[in-house]
Amino acid sequence: MKRTLLRVGGLLLVLALLATGAAVGLAWVLGPPTYDEYNAGDFEFEAQGDVLAGKRLAELTCVRCHYDPTTDSLAGRRIAPEYKALGQAHAPNLTRDEVRGIGLWTEAELVMLLRSGVHPKDKTRLPPWMPFHPNISDVDLANLVAYFRSDDPWVAPQRTPEKRSTLAFRSVLQAWVAWKPGPAKLTAVERPRESEPIALGAYLANDLLQCHGCHSKSVEAVDWVTPHKTAGFYQGGAKVTDLAGNTVVAPGLTPSPKAGIGGWTYEEFRRALIEGVTPVGKILRWPMPTYPRLTEGEVSAMYAYFQTLSPNNTPLKRAAPYRVSPKIVDPGRHEFERLGCPSCHAPDALGPLSLKKVPEKYPDDASLVEYISDPRFVDPNAWMGAYGKLASDEEMAALAEYVRRRVERGPYAPPPKE
Ligand code: HEC
Ligand code: HEC
Ligand code: HEC
Repeated sequence: MKRTLLRVGGLLLVLALLATGAAVGLAWVLGPPTYDEYNAGDFEFEAQGDVLAGKRLAELTCVRCHYDPTTDSLAGRRIAPEYKALGQAHAPNLTRDEVRGIGLWTEAELVMLLRSGVHPKDKTRLPPWMPFHPNISDVDLANLVAYFRSDDPWVAPQRTPEKRSTLAFRSVLQAWVAWKPGPAKLTAVERPRESEPIALGAYLANDLLQCHGCHSKSVEAVDWVTPHKTAGFYQGGAKVTDLAGNTVVAPGLTPSPKAGIGGWTYEEFRRALIEGVTPVGKILRWPMPTYPRLTEGEVSAMYAYFQTLSPNNTPLKRAAPYRVSPKIVDPGRHEFERLGCPSCHAPDALGPLSLKKVPEKYPDDASLVEYISDPRFVDPNAWMGAYGKLASDEEMAALAEYVRRRVERGPYAPPPKE
């Protein structure tokens, strides 16, 4: 009796293994699933959007990945290593170029991609490295779409070489079992009013800016459709990678004084979002975006919303601080590292957000210092934080000298003699 049971059990186990093996093999051959029932025709859109309002939304969301510093436009760039376990991600060209960009896309196609996450051309669901917005309001959606049709220089046609993302096999499996698309048809979504701050804050944080995409348990398992179902919603802990390749842990945003922003004043919260600096004067590292375009009402709505979350008091292990080389050897390099510039510009200043145009754009150190101190004072389109208050005049001068020397003369050029 016992032996028969064992045999049957063994047989079932072998069958289960075979079935799993066959499913995995099939996924490997088929690639990610397609959602053929999704059609751009079901996303036809009436409303006329406002281009300037749309540009602001693109600056708050799309620039982070699609901005290409070499053309100063949304021509796209490589965005790994944040998602390196899922494959190699490349944010495509969003300019109006008809071959390499989205110049020939219809508005309905763009709307379908943004609301449902299903790509209108190949009908696969976008990998988690392209966040889609199932609950973005009609007004915001119309504005965004209008912007991508506009004459703004950021979307003027750029014919850059085509580079496409590649999915790791693990992502193909996840695409079958875990990634779900948004609704298959256009539905009406209202933007909450400023008179309802908590609702507006929730909308901004979860549906538009998607702070939960990083500030929860993992960047790989984010629920864009029902954000609050994301694992570890706003409890932090997701491991991300900055553009120097260092691991950074996204902190929790619940109102816990121990493991969240419970002790933060409104001013401190505002400074983190607008200037990209923490209460103790540290630069917030990549991929934490800065949001200089948010209005006062929007920031305070989000602040109010985060206070309503239930506090998570389990402390997180934060990432180790960066290594900083001694001041005595090279004071400029010391500042570059101490302040955390490599987090976004890479140790050689020539990473995906390259500084190689600095000598051409900022002819002297004074203009460079001006930019680093308050980028929007120099270029109203800039979206870097404002780091002027973090260093003395002397330190800033050394920093500017170093950036210029690094990109003009390479890594081994010595600092100037006293
Ligand atoms: C976190 C990074 C990130 C952000 C933010 C982001 N994208 Fe993307 N986007 C990507 C990546 C990566 C892809 C490529 C997807 C793939 O690998 O299939 C992509 C693909 C696209 C595509 C498909 C283009 C094509 O030619 O196939 C469109 C359109 C697009 N994004 C628009 C937007 C818009 C509009 C926004 C802002 C609302 C935005 N994206 C925000 C990373 C991002
Ligand atoms: C692409 C990922 C990403 C997104 C999106 C994002 N953050 Fe962050 N955020 C981070 C990371 C990573 C850090 C930690 C940076 C560091 O340690 O230098 C951070 C830090 C912070 C901090 C500082 C907290 C502390 O304890 O030091 C605040 C506040 C914050 N984020 C708020 C927000 C808000 C609000 C949003 C949405 C409007 C948002 N973040 C969107 C990744 C992100
Ligand atoms: C959190 C990310 C981040 C950090 C940290 C950061 N930057 Fe930037 N920086 C950017 C982005 C994004 C841009 C380009 C986009 C824009 O603002 O127009 C930029 C642009 C610049 C530019 C202008 C480049 C050009 O071609 O116009 C300079 C100069 C610069 N950064 C210097 C620095 C220095 C020096 C530090 C350290 C004090 C620093 N950055 C820290 C994100 C960052």
